[in-house]
Amino acid sequence: MSITIPYYAPNLLKKRTESNSQVAIDFRGYTIESFLNAHRECGPIYRTKINGLEEIIIGGLEANDEAWRRPDQWSYSNAVKVFREELSDLHLTQLDREPHRRKRRLLNKAFKTSSIMENIPQIAEEIHRGLDEIVETEIELHEALMEIYTRSQSVSSIKEKIPDQMFKKMVAFEEGFLGALFFKDEERANIYSRSGYKEIKNEVIRYLHEIIIRRFEGRRVDDLLDTIIHQRTSNTIKPLSEEELIYDAYLLLIAGTGNTAKTICYCLNELANNPKWTAQLVKEIGDFKVDSLLRGMTNYPLLKATIMEAERLFPAAPILPRVPAEDMDFIGYHLNKGSHCLHVLTLMHFDESIYEDPFEFIPERWIDHKYPKQAHGTFGGGSHICLGMNVARIQMPITLGFLLSNYNFTVTKTPKKENFKFPNEVDSSTVRMNVRLIRK
Ligand code: HEM
Repeated sequence: MSITIPYYAPNLLKKRTESNSQVAIDFRGYTIESFLNAHRECGPIYRTKINGLEEIIIGGLEANDEAWRRPDQWSYSNAVKVFREELSDLHLTQLDREPHRRKRRLLNKAFKTSSIMENIPQIAEEIHRGLDEIVETEIELHEALMEIYTRSQSVSSIKEKIPDQMFKKMVAFEEGFLGALFFKDEERANIYSRSGYKEIKNEVIRYLHEIIIRRFEGRRVDDLLDTIIHQRTSNTIKPLSEEELIYDAYLLLIAGTGNTAKTICYCLNELANNPKWTAQLVKEIGDFKVDSLLRGMTNYPLLKATIMEAERLFPAAPILPRVPAEDMDFIGYHLNKGSHCLHVLTLMHFDESIYEDPFEFIPERWIDHKYPKQAHGTFGGGSHICLGMNVARIQMPITLGFLLSNYNFTVTKTPKKENFKFPNEVDSSTVRMNVRLIRK
């Protein structure tokens, strides 16, 4: 006998404003405090309305464990159909079961830690160069970092001499695309049908396709794209096709740059507000030498703790849609095939029974302390866990390492969610933050 899913009155969930939450990010426009209250009252699963739509909300340690342990129960293809509609039915994120396992296996070589480690010097040089280009003037950091990260992928994952204008278009495409991902269908359709966005998207996809065509015509390059194209596979696995590789090239070059940039923006803002911790961190980093990262983060415990805390307090994708692939039992509750669920995978980041003073930026908490895996949902979990986690976890310490060792910084505009291009219209949303870096 399954238990009835409780109902939580939608009017009890509060839309986030400038002043009604202790944390700077929102959860689908609502405060995390609202979701915590609902969870305390109803437990790990309840029905409500989010932005006018009926949803079943799941969250908590047990829910995370169950959701991540049995990924085949969920239809990613339905839940994140936007990737299929806007990119392709070949795109990784919206694949399920065997096709998803095949693709992850074939992409693994390009995203595993050892492959990324081999490219640390190139990645570091590009991030260093990128930061050095934005000094002495007030800049918008989020977009600047997205470009820096795309460039750093272009000297490691896909080694191509990409024109400056194309980098800007890649960033604009990602901002326009990702920032509307979870809007209502109609709003998203509006945003994606804008001619400016469509033109940029087509140009970027065409450019990626040209790279793949050249590789299929025989161009060999010592990079990760080459590695995945020419890897040896068993006869039972179909190699990556030319068309598939267009979207895999998008993963290698562009995907996730906004999430990494967002985490660093919020992190830097916290460092500006925590001078005592920042002074200790700057001391630890000293004259930052990227070679020492080849042995992992053991030389940088405070830097590691800083990043873990930024990941916890400012998860870039805190809540994600899920759809049961079949009727299923979920921790004792019945879920109908096709029902709309929202997984608050980062709810526990803000639960005081796990993280003391959860709304405070306290990097110290990560030193000599381990938290349950299910209480850290920043990169998701299970077989769909973020493919780029290792990339982000290399780019973030390199960015902070160079930034704090080479420059003093002032935050001139704190991070805020804004419209991407059209201030008074329904538009993709992104984070904007201004800083000034001054060479030490
Ligand atoms: C701090 C930075 C990042 C954060 C917080 C983040 C977060 C996430 C989250 C929460 C998921 C969903 C996992 C799930 O469905 O359970 C995800 C998936 C994914 N991420 Fe990231 N991400 C980041 C950076 C990146 C980067 C740099 C890449 C570059 C490739 C990337 C590529 C992907 C892909 C391809 C997936 C889908 C994986 C699959 O469905 O198998 N992400 N990410």
